[in-house]
Amino acid sequence: MHMRRLRACLIVAGLCVAALAASAVTAATASAEGDGVAATPPMGWNDWYSVYCGVNAQRVEQTAQEMVANGMKAAGYDYVNIDDCWMAASRDASGNLVADPTRFPGGIQAVAVYVHSLGLKLGIYEDAGTVTCAGYPGSFGHEAQDAATFASWGVDYVKYDRCAIPYGDFPGASAQQVQQTLYTRMSNALRATGRPIMFSMCNPDPGDDPWSWGAPIANLWRTTQDMQDSFGSMLATFEGTVNLFADAGPGAWNDPDMLQIGNGGSSLLEYTSEFSLWAEMAAPLIAGTNLAALTRPELAIYENPNVIAVDQDPLGRPGVPISSANGLWVLTKQLSTGGRAVLLFNSTDTAATIATTATAVGLPRGRVYSMHDLWTNAVSQTGGAISAFVPGHGVAMFTVAAVGTRRARTLAPQTVLSLHAASSELRVGRSTTLSASFADNGVTAVKKLRLSLAASPGWHVKPVGGATIPVLGPGKRFTVDYRVTAPRTGPPLAFSIFAARASYHPLDGRHASSATLGELVYSPVRAPLSTADVTTYPALFGASGPDLAISSRGMGVFILSSAASRTDSYAAIYEHARAGVDSTAEVTVTADPAGGKAGGAGLIERDDMTTAHNQSPAGVTLFVSSYAMIVMAWNASGGTNVDQQYTVPSLTVNGPVALALVRRGSTYTGFYSTDGGQIWNSVATVTVAASASLGPQDVGVFHASGLPTWTTMATFTGFSVH
Ligand code: GLA
Repeated sequence: MHMRRLRACLIVAGLCVAALAASAVTAATASAEGDGVAATPPMGWNDWYSVYCGVNAQRVEQTAQEMVANGMKAAGYDYVNIDDCWMAASRDASGNLVADPTRFPGGIQAVAVYVHSLGLKLGIYEDAGTVTCAGYPGSFGHEAQDAATFASWGVDYVKYDRCAIPYGDFPGASAQQVQQTLYTRMSNALRATGRPIMFSMCNPDPGDDPWSWGAPIANLWRTTQDMQDSFGSMLATFEGTVNLFADAGPGAWNDPDMLQIGNGGSSLLEYTSEFSLWAEMAAPLIAGTNLAALTRPELAIYENPNVIAVDQDPLGRPGVPISSANGLWVLTKQLSTGGRAVLLFNSTDTAATIATTATAVGLPRGRVYSMHDLWTNAVSQTGGAISAFVPGHGVAMFTVAAVGTRRARTLAPQTVLSLHAASSELRVGRSTTLSASFADNGVTAVKKLRLSLAASPGWHVKPVGGATIPVLGPGKRFTVDYRVTAPRTGPPLAFSIFAARASYHPLDGRHASSATLGELVYSPVRAPLSTADVTTYPALFGASGPDLAISSRGMGVFILSSAASRTDSYAAIYEHARAGVDSTAEVTVTADPAGGKAGGAGLIERDDMTTAHNQSPAGVTLFVSSYAMIVMAWNASGGTNVDQQYTVPSLTVNGPVALALVRRGSTYTGFYSTDGGQIWNSVATVTVAASASLGPQDVGVFHASGLPTWTTMATFTGFSVH
């Protein structure tokens, strides 16, 4: 249903936005009116991603203090939420829930009193099943009692999970129907207490679809599985939520999980994107981090008043995606002021221009619009074009509104400087054309425009034609091409950075803008090594001396999670038929960046590396996973996939890992070393199925990002087979 609506939207964007937003409001108001909470998405903190089961009263109270002291309370954050593990292992003799006496010595009520004394609210966690996800007593069969307990303690927010639901007690009912019954029970029980309590459903498993039935009973529902602190996980979470815009509105919100900003797994640029995307989707802004450890720039993200205002806009309409071609997203969110919050999000690795227009985002046809950049605070005017040169993983976010010409005359024109490379990757010693382009989107001219380009050391840069122009008219563009030549030698794969600069005079002031672009330069892989790419997005390979690099997507060499999608998808640098029946392959993985679950980098041996998906039985891999664990996986069944695996328990590695795969006939033993090859530990010994080839096999290094939409680069050194 959502896809159908979305397609209609792409055709008549403006009209569609209005129609959808209107239906969302009707769908959701029932709940808002019903309990008077969550008129706008909740804002606050939750302990889970910073302490997991280590939560205690002190941590909760200190966080409440911190929220006041660091300005977050003033910025609108008011919920202090306790997640799983706050309870004692069992209920008391009367069946009441009790807090863990060591970690919450004064009980939950004392914490609530303290949190309330600071002008904040307290949230708690429970579960619709017999036990919580961490194994503490669940509310099943105790709904009214537990709701009354929470109300008596002064709880303001209940997150309600879905672990250990006794589906067997409901013969003939689907999982979703059972959840509807149990979540409705708790919703009614909370309402019956008479205390306004926000009700947050946490049941995002496939088929649960809480957005399709949650609005009458809950104030928010999780749309996706738990989010990790990585760009790939954030992207998957965003993509899993953004098309559900029509199901949310005041009183009832899509919850794509807590914010990971500050947990150390992403860059500031990526955290800025995360915050902007959540605000554009009208998602709850719940900080899932240790607030006391936030850096100043991280705190500034959480406290950006412009972006918070978009999230909290009283109209309560989630942003609508109007395009997403090639990973370049345009979203528009209708605001109560009549303007639109426009988000340009570049989910790709490479900087790119993202463009839309005032009418496409749903604004009335007019002559001039103001654009407020919500991250730089610059205000400019445009004749209708809305564009920005957005770095890979980055966003540009504006509020756009029609303005009169008099006001427009006081504003500088919106200008965009962008860089485009004829090819985004280049072999060492080769040349390509880089174009620097300056656009005046405004309704007034710019004067004395000058463009220039700086390159990394070793590059040769030559402009083709002049780089200055006395006047550039409104709505016009000025482009300068540069012939650029890469250095003759370099590492296997590396980014070179180009920086363009424009200086110009708008109105009476002097302005400058800059844009940077990375160009991936590779040293080609040479015989006897070859490359194989069985992903759906072109991989890039490099070799230089003993070093190898692979930049690729790909879900992995096996997909364990779902039989239906067991499709190998990875990229490899390998030697054909080099692993004999009595051989050892070795390599050191020097970098394996975080990606999706089944991603990783390491050694691979299989009958034929070039045979596409699922057609090369008898394979063994030994690799460092995206989660920094050492995994050995193999084909044991004689089927067409590498389908069993062993993970070295309780070990996460950081830094280089040496791997060795020893083959004796159809028996393979994996070893790893984290001290440069002094001490080798064995991982596993496996015998592959009878169908395994007993002849020589292809052997090499492989990489898969683990995500279909996200490229990561792994590096290796010292690959050898003997
Ligand atoms: C589930 C939820 C998480 C967290 C944990 C607690 O995984 O999705 O947000 O509440 O349970 O056990």
